[in-house]
Amino acid sequence: MIKAADMTDTKNWTPESWRSKPAKQMPAYLDAAKLQEAETRLAKLPPLVFAGEARKLQKKLAKVAAGEAFLFQGGDCAESFAEFSANNIRDTFRMMLQMAVILTFGGGIPVVKVGRMAGQFAKPRSDESETRDGVTLPSYRGDIINGIDFTAEARRADPDRMIQVYNQSASTLNLLRAFIQGGYADLHRVHQWNLGFVDSSLQGERYRDLASRIDETLGFMAACNINAETSAQIRETEFYTSHEALLLPYEQAMTRIDSTSGDWYDVSAHMLWIGERTRQPDGAHVEFLRGVKNPLGLKCGPNMSADDLMRLIDILNPANEPGRLTLIARMGDDKIAKSLPPLLRVTKKAGRMEVWCSDPMHGNTQVSASGYKTREFSRILAEVRGFFDVCRAEGVHPGGVHLEMTGQEVTECTGGVSAVTDAGLSARYETHCDPRLNATQALELAFLIADYVKKDRVKPVETV
Ligand code: PEP
Ligand code: CO
Repeated sequence: MIKAADMTDTKNWTPESWRSKPAKQMPAYLDAAKLQEAETRLAKLPPLVFAGEARKLQKKLAKVAAGEAFLFQGGDCAESFAEFSANNIRDTFRMMLQMAVILTFGGGIPVVKVGRMAGQFAKPRSDESETRDGVTLPSYRGDIINGIDFTAEARRADPDRMIQVYNQSASTLNLLRAFIQGGYADLHRVHQWNLGFVDSSLQGERYRDLASRIDETLGFMAACNINAETSAQIRETEFYTSHEALLLPYEQAMTRIDSTSGDWYDVSAHMLWIGERTRQPDGAHVEFLRGVKNPLGLKCGPNMSADDLMRLIDILNPANEPGRLTLIARMGDDKIAKSLPPLLRVTKKAGRMEVWCSDPMHGNTQVSASGYKTREFSRILAEVRGFFDVCRAEGVHPGGVHLEMTGQEVTECTGGVSAVTDAGLSARYETHCDPRLNATQALELAFLIADYVKKDRVKPVETV
């Protein structure tokens, strides 16, 4: 009989082999016994997702790699304990359904929906510590590690927070699964998904028009005997979870052998990604993720060279499996035209099957005159446009977008038709980390992206 470990193609890998590699962005836990206790407890808890679901997502992403589908990944920059509520989960999910419908119907392409939800709690930080009025404390690293309040107690890394994250993720997933299968996502509800405040805006109006066209189409399909009873695609949706695999003790504790395939899966989420700050080829994060079979993401910033990229691809997707690896370009609107083409060229030339998608958020963060970390809607849009232009010029499928957004009408990004100004940022600035698109801005962006997708699908006829 083949033993489980022999079936993986990862040599010299174990769930803890990352521990002998340099690990960036890891907190200093002062109480080693408490950390060990939390890891042991987590390792015994039931999986949050199933390996079979992760495999299903990989199949969907393989379709994206083949140019037959579009990936929409989105949600909070950081989930938090304070903002945890059924309404928040519902509103983000509803927002994602609306945006996916705009992309599917407007763009004419199937959309794979992946939430930054039910596990997105750990944040990489540029600085180890933060100083205010002469007091220096460790930086806030996300609720899975420490608290956001500026006190020594809150900023101490506490391993028990990992258990709270597990519990919150389990409740979030439970509600998401109910929404997915319990009728909330039924396409007949497309009108009801409009959030109250968006309803009255120009975007709400556009959305209502689109929803009416979908209603008409559903009516026609029902006349052909394709309806919610006969077709699960109308009644339900598919939705997957993802987060940055940053806090490795947590990820390791959530890693199990799947009894069906004998492979290792990190059952804390369907998809896991490696951040821009932790993608060193010989570092702990790359080491950990190369051994789990979940679909992976890799953030690619403006300083990544074609050689860096190929080295990472060889480690993370040695068998060139379609859907295994999604490359997430986060360049900045002013850099994408220069930094992305060499990366697209090298993957194309090597016949690679990776998905290319655009994160137009993380390369466009700036500090406003009033001192808030913010992003301008016009720069976000310019990076998405740049991404589609470069992909088209290089003959690569623009496979998707990765956004930080919320269903709430917050004031964190400036501009868009909702016209949030610098001075208006303080009104509802609620993020625990990076600025997110609010509901109106997110809908506006979805319509614009749908137009790009549509244009890209109507390719000129090739001459032989
Ligand atoms: C993030 O996605 O929240 C993030 C920190 O991204 P990046 O690693 O690309 O900076
Ligand atoms: Co972020």
